[in-house]
Amino acid sequence: MDTCRVLVVGLLLVILVLSAHVLGAAQDRPLRGSADERGFFIGTAVAMTPFRSESIYNETLRREFNIIVAENAFKWDSVRPSRDSFNFADTDALVDFAEANNMKIRGHTLVWHSQVPSWLTDGNFTRDEVISILREYILTFVGRYRGRVWAWDVVNEAVDDSTGALRTNSFWFQTIGPDYIELAFEYAREADPAARLYYNDYSIEDLSAKSNGVYNLVSSLKGQGVPIDGVGWQMHQINGFRTEPAHKTNARRLADLGLELSITEMDVRISLPSTSEELNQQSDAYRHAINFCLTTPNCTALLTWGFTDKHSWIPGFFAGWGDALIYDSSYQPKPAYFALREALVQKADSAPAINGAQRDRKRLFIIGQGFLEGAEFFINGEKQKKVFNSSQDPSVTLIAKKSGKKVRTGDILLVKNPDGLFSNEFVYP
Ligand code: XIL
Repeated sequence: MDTCRVLVVGLLLVILVLSAHVLGAAQDRPLRGSADERGFFIGTAVAMTPFRSESIYNETLRREFNIIVAENAFKWDSVRPSRDSFNFADTDALVDFAEANNMKIRGHTLVWHSQVPSWLTDGNFTRDEVISILREYILTFVGRYRGRVWAWDVVNEAVDDSTGALRTNSFWFQTIGPDYIELAFEYAREADPAARLYYNDYSIEDLSAKSNGVYNLVSSLKGQGVPIDGVGWQMHQINGFRTEPAHKTNARRLADLGLELSITEMDVRISLPSTSEELNQQSDAYRHAINFCLTTPNCTALLTWGFTDKHSWIPGFFAGWGDALIYDSSYQPKPAYFALREALVQKADSAPAINGAQRDRKRLFIIGQGFLEGAEFFINGEKQKKVFNSSQDPSVTLIAKKSGKKVRTGDILLVKNPDGLFSNEFVYP
């Protein structure tokens, strides 16, 4: 080989090594690296005990997340231990920590039926007294961090699980009546006009009596001019969870009201002991949720309820269940962590798309691009059973063997890839 050749080969090698390095760097980047770049918020709940005592806990927080929420420190029983005292030691520590590390912070939560101190619930206060205690609390607490808390869960879990009506077994409902909700939002807006004000709840992610109840509640609040900006989907799930077309429909009806959305408390519990197969299955639940949020225009953030299985509320509240988070109890990343990381670096345009559909007797051909092997196909939200990627053009044609008979003009066609990315909604002509 002459010198020139040696030089060229050498140069090529250098380029190869460098680009592999850059590519590798993008993929090995902590979650917040990619999230910061795309303007997305990926976060977690913080528990005070490990925050104050385990350095690896704080190192992981700083490295991986660009938004935090307190698991308990922003609740009444912590902030207002007695009628004449506020305790801001932990809230100050967390707000300072967030700012020092260039993170956003969510305030959770101003009004909830749980973790209300007994001096208040057993105090025999009149309705007017409770209203003035609530007002003082919100003005003092939210006012203290004016401009520093990105979003507040103003009201948490106010809707009944089965009926979708307002929950009646709540101190706030029982003493103030249903008005407590709008009062809380108004006081919060007064205390911090810049903070996003959220209603937050569980089991409201897809379509159900409860999520309809929440939709009706926030829609009527909006209609009355009550200052509400978003809805938090807690997303406490059981392993096997997948996003469905119903999640899309639900997100869209909130967007139509002008509301944003955040996934606020995600975990995916597994019946213990967990197998490696179950941990892989769990990673799909996280992948689906983040891909959903990343591709839903009004979804702004995804937070998990803790990040290490060492510190999670699940085993204490759901006997026999656990391993619900993205790091194991030795702070080792689990498949769920890698699923989040991959989704965050993935290009926004990797979602499938439908451009057309054609019926041929019983069969329906769905034409588009980006269909992965094993893509699912829905008509009006109903999953079609006999669906195959075309053997000639698997990524551009799906064949729904039985769907030609049932499809009608105006039906909504939707494809979902196994990674959880949905296509556009295509209206059958
Ligand atoms: C839980 C905390 O994780 C526990 O430590 C505490 O004992 C009870 O509350 N929905 C919520 C959260 O909105 O505030 C709850 O947090 C979990 C369910």
